[in-house]
Amino acid sequence: MAKDLNYVCTECGATHSKWSGRCDACGAWNTIQEEAPLTTGPGAKAIGAHRGRKVTLTDLASTPEAPPRTMSGVAELDRVLGGGLVAASALLVGGDPGIGKSTLLLQAAARFGRNGLKVIYVTGEESAAQVQMRAQRLGLTDSPVTLAAETNLRDILTTLDVERPDLVIIDSIQTMWSDKVEAAPGSVSQVRTAAHELTTFAKTRNIAVIMVGHVTKEGTLAGPRVVEHMVDCVLYFEGERGHQFRILRAHKNRFGPADEIGVFEMTGKGLAEVKNPSALFLSERDTATPGSVVFAGIEGTRPILCEIQALVSPAQPGQTRRSVVGWDGGRLAMILAVLESRCCVSFAGLDVYLNVAGGLRIGEPAADLAVAAALISAREDAALPVDCAIFGEISLSGAVRPVAQTENRLKEAAKLGFTQAILPQRPKRRAGTETAAGLDLREMRDLPGFVDTVFGLAPGERE
Ligand code: TYD
Ligand code: MG
Repeated sequence: MAKDLNYVCTECGATHSKWSGRCDACGAWNTIQEEAPLTTGPGAKAIGAHRGRKVTLTDLASTPEAPPRTMSGVAELDRVLGGGLVAASALLVGGDPGIGKSTLLLQAAARFGRNGLKVIYVTGEESAAQVQMRAQRLGLTDSPVTLAAETNLRDILTTLDVERPDLVIIDSIQTMWSDKVEAAPGSVSQVRTAAHELTTFAKTRNIAVIMVGHVTKEGTLAGPRVVEHMVDCVLYFEGERGHQFRILRAHKNRFGPADEIGVFEMTGKGLAEVKNPSALFLSERDTATPGSVVFAGIEGTRPILCEIQALVSPAQPGQTRRSVVGWDGGRLAMILAVLESRCCVSFAGLDVYLNVAGGLRIGEPAADLAVAAALISAREDAALPVDCAIFGEISLSGAVRPVAQTENRLKEAAKLGFTQAILPQRPKRRAGTETAAGLDLREMRDLPGFVDTVFGLAPGERE
């Protein structure tokens, strides 16, 4: 009967009262499926037939102890977790298939095991033999980690109840199935139920859970976004195909800063930490090239320098291309529009390609000025000095706006041997607080001024 059914979008998890071809919530086509609804608790009118238990209330003044944390010893991972793994927390690790999630978690499991946690690794995707082979390849066979190849949630929970580990790794949540709901593994209600049962069970028994989740081609966690709300921490494992660098990014973290990143390199012996990512992202850069600019960025709490490359070429009539890797396409369109209308630097009739080298993805608006510099440098075929770092946000009016953590960006640039920086104009400082880190600074107030002083393009010569 229609009344007993829900219509749920498999992309975003939104529920609808009737089927339709397109989900109103996320706009995806053909993603709505019939599913049995979850129980909704006691009736709306009354407390229900059975009275509940009275919940204990506390005030805000009592200070709970900070939750105990365990370090893995992999600094890149511990920092992303906000300073180690919190006991009884729930984590979700998302990423494309084949990016290295299972490798990362097996290595992490081994480290946590050696640091005294009792760890169970549950694999639903691979056989136990496959995981053992990987462990052999990674040289982890002697680590105190126990393994189970199982997808039945009831059996897993029973095992956890008997074994009482400190940490359980579920690879992946999409393969788990609970017999409480009649839906195929990987469907919205299965993933939601399995994640909910696992996290609540684990929390009551003081077990930390790390779940692996697959990502759709649009880059969001496949299945319901609701899992993201259930867990304490959502990490994404990203990387461009063809690059050996992998970036673990905290998307949400209840116990530490979000937007923190950890950089790894995929080697023949698993994932290795990259301690100095800036040096790595800039390693192939030694001569000044038109279209190449160094951006002094901040990822989480850490400054990271990376190279932004632009290429501009004549377009086929009627089909100009704008292609971006590692940055936001909408933001590129905005910078091009500001350059055109405020600085008379036009890219009409030109194809524009923008790339962040090394497979890094930048989300900071502070990269605007570096992108603008790369675009003009490519258009004018004029290289900026090799040892010059750039940052600053551009507003629609063409003003260059100040950004956070200027000092940290400058310090990192100085540490890597840069001698010049182009940055937004800073407020007047008191004498003695000037710490330019030994760099030659050029402060910019607006984009037309930048185009003029850096590229020597007076308004008349820009056409
Ligand atoms: P995997 O962890 O299985 O990815 P996921 O669980 O995210 O699907 O990683 C698979 C890839 O990693 C595979 O293409 C091979 C590569 N790899 C290495 O390069 N070196 C290694 O030591 C290991 C274990 C994997
Ligand atoms: Mg895997």
